Amino acid sequence: MRKLFVLTLLAAIFFKATAQDVPLNKGWKLAVGDSVQWSSPTYNDQHWATVNVTQSWEQEGHPDYNGFGWYRIHVVIPSSLKEKAFLKDSLRINLGSVDDNDEVYLNGKLIGRFGGKTGDIVKGAFYGPRTYTIAANNPSILWDKENVLAVRIYDTGGDGGIYGTNFSIGMADVMDHVSVNTEADFNYGERNSLSKSIKLLTTNHYDYKGKLAFKVTDPETNAVLYEKTNDAAFTGGKPFTYTFEIARLEKKSYAITYTFTDEKSGKVLTQTETTPYLLTPYPSAKPKINGADVFGARPGNPFLYLIPATGKKPLVYKAQGLPDGLKLDAATGIITGTVAQKGTYPVTFTVSNKLGSKTKEFTIVIGDKIGLTPALGWNSWNAWGLSVDDKKVRISAKAMADRLSAHGWAYINIDDGWEAEQRLPDGKIATNSKFPDMKGLTDYVHGLGLRMGIYSSPGPRTCGGFLGSWQHEEQDAQTYGDWGIDYLKYDWCAYSEVTSPNPDLPALKKPYQVMRGALDKINRDIMYSLCQYGWGNVWEWGAEVGGNSWRTTGDIQDTWRSLSSIGFNQDKAAPFSQPGHFNDPDMLVVGKVGWGPSLHNTHLTYDEQYTHISLWSLLSSPLLIGCDMGHLDSFTLSLLTNDEVLAIDQDALGKGASRYIKNDNYQIWVKELKDGGKAIGLFNISDKYQTISLDKNDPALKGFTKFRDVWQQKYIITTGKTFSAKVAPHGVMLVKVSE
Ligand code: GLA
Repeated sequence: MRKLFVLTLLAAIFFKATAQDVPLNKGWKLAVGDSVQWSSPTYNDQHWATVNVTQSWEQEGHPDYNGFGWYRIHVVIPSSLKEKAFLKDSLRINLGSVDDNDEVYLNGKLIGRFGGKTGDIVKGAFYGPRTYTIAANNPSILWDKENVLAVRIYDTGGDGGIYGTNFSIGMADVMDHVSVNTEADFNYGERNSLSKSIKLLTTNHYDYKGKLAFKVTDPETNAVLYEKTNDAAFTGGKPFTYTFEIARLEKKSYAITYTFTDEKSGKVLTQTETTPYLLTPYPSAKPKINGADVFGARPGNPFLYLIPATGKKPLVYKAQGLPDGLKLDAATGIITGTVAQKGTYPVTFTVSNKLGSKTKEFTIVIGDKIGLTPALGWNSWNAWGLSVDDKKVRISAKAMADRLSAHGWAYINIDDGWEAEQRLPDGKIATNSKFPDMKGLTDYVHGLGLRMGIYSSPGPRTCGGFLGSWQHEEQDAQTYGDWGIDYLKYDWCAYSEVTSPNPDLPALKKPYQVMRGALDKINRDIMYSLCQYGWGNVWEWGAEVGGNSWRTTGDIQDTWRSLSSIGFNQDKAAPFSQPGHFNDPDMLVVGKVGWGPSLHNTHLTYDEQYTHISLWSLLSSPLLIGCDMGHLDSFTLSLLTNDEVLAIDQDALGKGASRYIKNDNYQIWVKELKDGGKAIGLFNISDKYQTISLDKNDPALKGFTKFRDVWQQKYIITTGKTFSAKVAPHGVMLVKVSE
């Protein structure tokens, strides 16, 4: 599936197999299709194919299969499990992750179900870890005998099946429902100190009593910086709170380990996290103009551009050389109007406050192309999934206007979940009750100097099960135009139902050409973002069908595995990146994400987040923030407001970085920049600190004498023949080299 709903509850209570558990990693069989007999213990599944459950059924040779499938395994459940267990009342079955819906049968009896009614196209179907618990005296369990576990799956799209690593049968444990809640923000104190409160929580009524060991280590040296053990007691409804402060930290991440040991059962729970560190310098009170150097618009269409500038308010804005038809609001920096004449217009912006003034040369290109630099904005999906509503969008827009638009962030994009289930009698698309006034919402966003985006699918339904644009493309484009929409993300979902089962290239292009034609009839500059997961090497033809960007991959998740496998595999698409047409390796997973109503801090470490923003900027990707904008913590804000990093993404040459060096421990990616310099990312992909070096005579560096640490915005003094950087695990050193 491509709807990713990480169940925060289940993610928080991550069930681990214990030593005596029966592993279920091997021995599964799979059949795609559906039959009531397949739950039966007497059904003969010998002819079924053996399946490797670390991967999806697509990877197991069922290309692009959506629909029903069954997994079966024969397993002896020994009564010794029960005898050895501390708690003896429930059996726990870990089924890895399920994509999307499932029903689980033990010896023919239904023992659990997830994701709504299996077989429906479930709105908000859940991909995620799956664990079922049944009473140990449930008569379906055949102790010390062979049992047949049969799992019926329904997949709505994309990858499907059960896959992952956590497959086992064991007894439910006292620690199953205990978690260390680390969701609170870190507080930044004087002299580089950090403080925070964490909570030990449970949904059980068992009285937990024992010790909480807290340990801080430096992953570079393995030195223990701080260690403390406290008494801890908690039970359902009465959490234990632990507050700590760590002093005098360097600019790097440290590892924190929380270990709770329950006295009575002797059971142990360990959780880790890393500490944040800020690299972006604090913005000066003096005026500074940020953002791209160029902006493209079409003649005769409404124009909207906010001059991104930082500095102590009030700021006064000026623009010299604006083409006829445009006017600037000197107090807000918002330029509006319409330009009739095509042309390249050099403009000088000036921004002043009490402390001084600053100018910047800028180019407005009125022509056929828009989106000359990748979109910088917010999209609702990775945060709110289908639970997005008008209020959340307004909060995001306000937060962007208050905290981010000064750095060039401009788009507020509503993803799936705004549409009604039925069209109006005249066939027009309508919003659902969460969006009572789309035109009013768009006006609000425009009033802040920001642009508004929306989502649809070429199929009869969207991926989330709402109305798609099939056979209503022109009508929908017209409605978007009437609302004042500036950006359309156009998915693929449910289009498979109305095209050939194995679409060839013309069939893959078709829905995007149809919508392109419809958008061209609208008197607005609508950025067109294709979202078909990279099928048919879309990067080779995305520009030809009029896409301003195209997704090159399936949906991203907030894990290193997902981030690194997507990000470091973009080199094939890089040569196709150009002004107006960019590769899109999917939206950002920094800050608080959740794909639904409840959010969690991204599971990426702080170093991984630096890697994410650096790599996406090197790739000239659209940067679409996917977090709750109402709660931007200091780290996330500093990550998203580094003007020199954003300048690499927004570089007017529009090139995508290519991979220069790859080995088991690190990769070096190089991007050519408009000013003749290069942006270079030295990425540590290993789990240990690495020193990454490049000879100064290497073709990538030859002729360049200045090395700038882009995150810290300062020049690096280097002597000797090589340029070297010590890089944290999964972290990055992003440098800009110039003559
Ligand atoms: C697909 C896309 C996601 C999101 C969802 C909405 O999965 O890839 O980015 O738009 O659909 O349902």
